[in-house]
Amino acid sequence: MKALVYSGPGRKDWRDVPDPAIQEPTDAVVRVDTTTICGTDLHILHGDVAAVTEGRILGHEAVGTITAVGDGVKAFAVGDRVLVPAITKCGRCSYCLRGMPSHCQTVGGIGWIFGHLIDGTQAEAVRVPFADTSLYAVPENVTNEQAIFLADSLPTGYEVGVLAGHVQPGDTVAVVGAGAVGLSAIQTTGLWGASKVIAVDTNKFRLGTALEFGATDIVEAGPGTRESVLAMTDGLGVDVAIEAVGFPETLQTTVSLVRPGGHVANIGVHGVAVELPLHEMWIHNITMTMGLVDTVSIPILLKMVASGRIASEKMGTHRFTFGQINEAYDVFGNAAAHEALKVVITPE
Ligand SMILES: NC(=O)c1ccc[n+]([C@@H]2O[C@H](COP(=O)([O-])OP(=O)(O)OC[C@H]3O[C@@H](n4cnc5c(N)ncnc54)[C@H](O)[C@@H]3O)[C@@H](O)[C@H]2O)c1
Ligand SMILES: [Zn+2]
Ligand SMILES: [Zn+2]
Repeated sequence: MKALVYSGPGRKDWRDVPDPAIQEPTDAVVRVDTTTICGTDLHILHGDVAAVTEGRILGHEAVGTITAVGDGVKAFAVGDRVLVPAITKCGRCSYCLRGMPSHCQTVGGIGWIFGHLIDGTQAEAVRVPFADTSLYAVPENVTNEQAIFLADSLPTGYEVGVLAGHVQPGDTVAVVGAGAVGLSAIQTTGLWGASKVIAVDTNKFRLGTALEFGATDIVEAGPGTRESVLAMTDGLGVDVAIEAVGFPETLQTTVSLVRPGGHVANIGVHGVAVELPLHEMWIHNITMTMGLVDTVSIPILLKMVASGRIASEKMGTHRFTFGQINEAYDVFGNAAAHEALKVVITPE
């Protein structure tokens, strides 16, 4: 088969590799019908993720069709249309049992293994370990292009932003960063009845998109961000402030937007230490959360997509075939210039 292989920092090749095969009785092999690219793939290509070694097939999001199952797989069969999520889980270790498969001890101590510790989904096919507990059947009325964004960005915005931030009915919420993840938080904040959802971004196109995803207000990020948000929230700030960028200054901005007793939910992946005003945050009774997505909300999100409550397909702005995967990376890597959110990649 053909796959996108990491060949060291800045280098990737769409080339022939051996077909994946069942290695353990709990494995399935999935033909990839739809995949996409994540910001994390760009970090890997920059050489920022040391665990990814040369020769690794990239990608951790897919929707596809099962072509083989091991003897131990009971819940799925050849021909099933499935979602391959970013997190793989054994379902039995102490972390899986407490609903935190992001730290599944059986699959390697971290649930994110595709395109990281094992070969990934930017390929014509992928081997999925622990298929019974890791895969999700895609409901008939949910298309591949809707389901693909439930592999990572939508559960991330929902779990690490909205759920961890404890958004309650009537809350005011600010989301700093309106990329795929921030927009996912904006879209799912509505499920909890937020009264005001303020999107903050430097990019005008993204702010316009945020309104389409359910933001009630937008603020162009700059020196006046805090004043603008405070003016929209009775002078005290928002109940929940969500960070979805991953820079020290954007987390600092996010923290500056929250009211006493409020919650800061950091989603951003930070590459360096961040200085925060704990001397002010403690007396303001601020709660702060952060973490790697578990993707355990996928069944609920699939239901909401199937019922039409979440239009996940809106996330896909550009489409490519496998043969155009390098072009897809160019567009996604320069998303602002192309007014792109997420790319949809299919065999043809
Ligand atoms: N915690 C997790 O499990 C998890 C999972 C996936 C992604 N992430 C992280 O979430 C973050 C967002 O991911 P994404 O795919 O949406 O990224 P993205 O690059 O598509 O979006 C980031 C957005 O931030 C905006 N931005 C840049 N500088 C800004 C500034 N100074 N002020 C306000 N906005 C600014 C950009 O215009 C863009 O719209 C990243 O850090 C990513 O690594 C975390
Ligand atoms: Zn990802
Ligand atoms: Zn586990």
